[in-house]
Amino acid sequence: MKLTQDQKNFVEDLLSRMTLEEKIGQMNQESPSIVGGFDVPFSELIEMLTDGRISQEEFGRIMANAKQDFHEDDIRAGRVGSQMVKDPRQNNALQKIAVEESRLGIPLIIGFDVIHGFRSVFPIAIGEACSFDDALFEETAHMAAAESRAHGINWNFAPMIDAARDSRWGRVSEGPGEDPLLGSRFARAKIRGLQNDQSSPLSYVAACTKHYVAYGACESGRDYNTTSMSVSNLYNVYLPAFRAAMNEGAATVMAAFNDLNGVPCTVNRWLLRDVLKKDFGLEGFVVSDANAIRECVIHGIAEDDRDAGVQAALAGMDMDMGTHIYKDHLAAEVEKGTVPMAVIDEAVRRILSVKVWLGLFENPYVPEALIEAYEKGLPEEHIALCRKAAEESMVLLKNEGGLLPLSRGQKISLVGKLADDANEVCGAWAMAWKPEDCVSIRMGLEAAGADVRYFPCGGPEGEIDFEEADRACREGDVIVAVVGETDAMSGEASSKAEISLPGGQRALLERLLASGKPVVTVLMNGRPLALGWEAEHLPAILEAWHLGIRMGDAVAAALLGDVNPSGKLSSSFPAVTGQCPVYYNHPSTGRPGSKSKFTSRYLDSPWDALYPFGHGLSYTGFAYDGLCVEETADALEICVKLKNTGDREGTEVAQLYLQDVAASLVRPVKELKNYSRVTLAAGEEREIRFTLPKQDMGFYDNEGQYRLEDGLFRIYVGGSSRDCLMKEVRIAF
Ligand code: NOJ
Repeated sequence: MKLTQDQKNFVEDLLSRMTLEEKIGQMNQESPSIVGGFDVPFSELIEMLTDGRISQEEFGRIMANAKQDFHEDDIRAGRVGSQMVKDPRQNNALQKIAVEESRLGIPLIIGFDVIHGFRSVFPIAIGEACSFDDALFEETAHMAAAESRAHGINWNFAPMIDAARDSRWGRVSEGPGEDPLLGSRFARAKIRGLQNDQSSPLSYVAACTKHYVAYGACESGRDYNTTSMSVSNLYNVYLPAFRAAMNEGAATVMAAFNDLNGVPCTVNRWLLRDVLKKDFGLEGFVVSDANAIRECVIHGIAEDDRDAGVQAALAGMDMDMGTHIYKDHLAAEVEKGTVPMAVIDEAVRRILSVKVWLGLFENPYVPEALIEAYEKGLPEEHIALCRKAAEESMVLLKNEGGLLPLSRGQKISLVGKLADDANEVCGAWAMAWKPEDCVSIRMGLEAAGADVRYFPCGGPEGEIDFEEADRACREGDVIVAVVGETDAMSGEASSKAEISLPGGQRALLERLLASGKPVVTVLMNGRPLALGWEAEHLPAILEAWHLGIRMGDAVAAALLGDVNPSGKLSSSFPAVTGQCPVYYNHPSTGRPGSKSKFTSRYLDSPWDALYPFGHGLSYTGFAYDGLCVEETADALEICVKLKNTGDREGTEVAQLYLQDVAASLVRPVKELKNYSRVTLAAGEEREIRFTLPKQDMGFYDNEGQYRLEDGLFRIYVGGSSRDCLMKEVRIAF
């Protein structure tokens, strides 16, 4: 985000003409609130949704019919800087009030949770990250930006780039997984896709990277829980994606709910002012997460709302999401002198700068023709990109005896409630999809010409119909069982203490296996599951996540061999829940897990991942050979021969890892340093080259200082974090 001198002058001029109330208004974000007509308060309604007393659909219906207050009077009075609405005509109406009826005519910045697509829903981020395809990350973000803007949304609360290593946390679904390098490349590509195409006023939005920071490290994987860690761990694992996003020019940041080492991120001056704004150079603004300023009172870091507001403002929190604390308390605090006017001016300058950069003063509205165009349906190229993203995000975990792909001649018994529920394909944080765009796995198989019969039998919730399962076994040559989680089982406030297949699904799989028919398992889920039993007993497992609106087409294409799976895991899968957090790049211990007793292991389960980061099979095979490492003045040049050993074309993600063998702080057993997607024809061999700049071979210490330390390094290249060739090099920087 860069402003011209003229734009900067415009901001300063505007700022100089604003009253204190108008300035604080810019720091206030509203969302529509429900008025009247309810037998139960809104908070109770949310609880009813959460504990299952009403379904998502019922909730949606209630909300659609409820009368909502969009805070028009406050907008007119200059007391609102931002809104959260997805309807384009409503957004035009609100902008009209802001631009034409408020004293200074400052447009609203309109934010929304467009996390993995708007109406074109792409795979959930943990799935999309499995493509290891930076160009795809960028393309899907670019399309999400265009669709958002066509609906009056100019600020996307994305990308979510929390490194997450504990799959009990429901929000692992929203981010790119456990690795800081993959997370950083995902972050950069998303920022480019959302922000960089300024060819038209409606082709870009402001990104909001979140949740700053270490939210993914919440203790026990329980959402909103406390986090504590060393400075070195913070800098090496949790901050890199944010640093990368800032280097790419991300316009805004959302602070995380959690405390970090005792100070909630919302009021954490060191994190917001020193690290984010000063060191990383954020040019835009920071927004709190929903109600987070008020929650500082419950955290026990502030005595009351007023105190929380003062702490947040002083810490560098520029915008208040949803509490009205700034609106209600800041003016008095400025007058008393507790909050200097300079703090307010800095926040407002940042917010206005983003609005100016977005071109909102010139183009606040969505043209009616564009609204109507979207009402007619999704453009073909949007659907095609949804399908491509879904195809690249699947990971073939296991394929014993080449059971997959199936042939069109085989009679398929498709089992599992999830297999024919088009409402379940989008996953968590998808809020603008239309049922008519969604393709279930059953629909996909039928459209692809498979010989398929469907037997729901049951799913993640409720009873299993075992008789129906027996019928499915009798009537098919092969069973395709679709099992996993509903979309509500991951995402915010969806942590779980047990992450094996929920409900009676394992019993269903046992029953299917007992028939002796081959059972292919397709997983639909929002988090790595504990699959120890499944990996041992099932011959073929395709991880399909929640792949978005074209999920059914993509899964059908993979099952029938029209698409060769190429995804690699962005997060490690445990065998049992008790292994969480399990991740590949853990610090070396003095007693690495092994068969002998006094090592870092469990008595009752494996110590390492069942399916590690980077794992993923193909319908062809790949062999690595001839690893070479050459040192130049400022880099290592690494080459390896990669051969497609099978009889069909396939795409492999070649991965480069590094281990710093001895350093002044314990380093990870392996760290991803680069990757490359390579498509090879049957039998083709190609040399893959990676350049590893020496500058990238260091790490951050407990003062947050980057260190390059001479000594021995191991270079690994392979097709997963577990399966690599290795060479040692000694480096003096
Ligand atoms: C809460 C979530 O933590 C955050 O990710 C989201 O963007 C905001 N609410 C706004 O909906």
